[in-house]
Amino acid sequence: MSIKKVCLELTDACNLNCTMCYRHSWHEQTQHMPKLMVETILNQIEGIESIEEIVVGGIGEPSIHPQIIEVLKRLKPYKVSLTTNGVSLTAPIREAIVEHVDQLVISIDGLAQNFYEIRGIHLETVLEQVRLINELKKSKLNDSLQLIFQMVLSETNKEDVFGIIDLASKYGVSQLIISNILPVSLEDSALCLYALETNAYMNAYYNQIRTYAIGRGLAVRLSENRLKTERRCRFVDNDTLVINARGDIAPCYRFAHSGTEVVFGRLKTIQAHTFGNVLEAGLEKIWHSKAYTDYRHMVYNNHYPSCTDCDLVDGCDMVNDTYGDCYGNAPSCGDCLWVRNLVYCI
Ligand SMILES: C[S@@+](CC[C@H](N)C(=O)[O-])C[C@H]1O[C@@H](n2cnc3c(N)ncnc32)[C@H](O)[C@@H]1O
Ligand code: SF4
Ligand code: SF4
Ligand code: SF4
Repeated sequence: MSIKKVCLELTDACNLNCTMCYRHSWHEQTQHMPKLMVETILNQIEGIESIEEIVVGGIGEPSIHPQIIEVLKRLKPYKVSLTTNGVSLTAPIREAIVEHVDQLVISIDGLAQNFYEIRGIHLETVLEQVRLINELKKSKLNDSLQLIFQMVLSETNKEDVFGIIDLASKYGVSQLIISNILPVSLEDSALCLYALETNAYMNAYYNQIRTYAIGRGLAVRLSENRLKTERRCRFVDNDTLVINARGDIAPCYRFAHSGTEVVFGRLKTIQAHTFGNVLEAGLEKIWHSKAYTDYRHMVYNNHYPSCTDCDLVDGCDMVNDTYGDCYGNAPSCGDCLWVRNLVYCI
């Protein structure tokens, strides 16, 4: 299998400091990807025929990277998605988005009050950007750019979903992605709406969301609201790799940075796991390395234990971090909530 999709983290720095952000659990110094590294990666991508899709995103705010416009221009031949908080989109950046991006994913985590409390800026600031982008699309007769809203659902903002659906239909948005919160601290774990067992209240609430969205012609991608048996890693299944802002190749967002996460009330240390650096070896060489190939094979075939619903989970030291599992795999995917479709990012 060859690389089909690349998630490119141009920066892990940000112009906001949202309350729930993964970045709160990091210890590393944040950085913009250096110019030479950006150039090297773009050259490498252009040399790999199998690559179809690029997500300019990761954990950070890509629009604040000094080369954002140049990068979007170079990536024109690919299906490009850009994830953004929508705060710092200057006129030239908006122009580049409308010209070169296929999917613009904007984070909208709540209505006025909640949005401000979570993101520290006014919702109107972001909506004004959406309005300007729509205006530009219209003036350029460009129908190819799809607008998507992404919401991190939690106890804090669950009442706002319906208002966000209204906003989405008002602003010509075609899809709303709703992911659960993956808490990075025990304090935040009280905000989770999902549970181990099925929950009648949540099922009814999800049905309400679906019905409300269908009535307004909006596609909704909803994460699960309880732990289900099925495990599919969409990074591995879709032949996707993640390049973090340091140029390290990770198999997914979860392993792109070290930090913490809380899995059903258990605080867990996440140790970044990467297979090489773009400045040391090419993307293809790293992708086809034995370690990365074996790892993808293990994940694809579900050859790893399920810690999340294991009877021994409360007494097992291995679940305190991601270093390894009881099958002998390293790192451990056994407790991953992304693979259960509880957490999602485009
Ligand atoms: C990390 S951001 C990067 C792009 C951009 N800075 C933004 O906020 O849209 C990508 C997505 O991850 C979400 N996110 C951040 N922290 C999260 C968490 N703890 N659990 C679930 N999603 C989270 C954000 O809300 C956003 O929708
Ligand atoms: S804007 Fe995105 S990367 Fe920045 S703090 Fe908020 S969620 Fe995190
Ligand atoms: S690593 Fe521990 S918690 Fe996970 S499945 Fe094995 S015994 Fe259970
Ligand atoms: S299963 Fe989870 S931790 Fe493992 S590669 Fe997929 S997303 Fe990453």
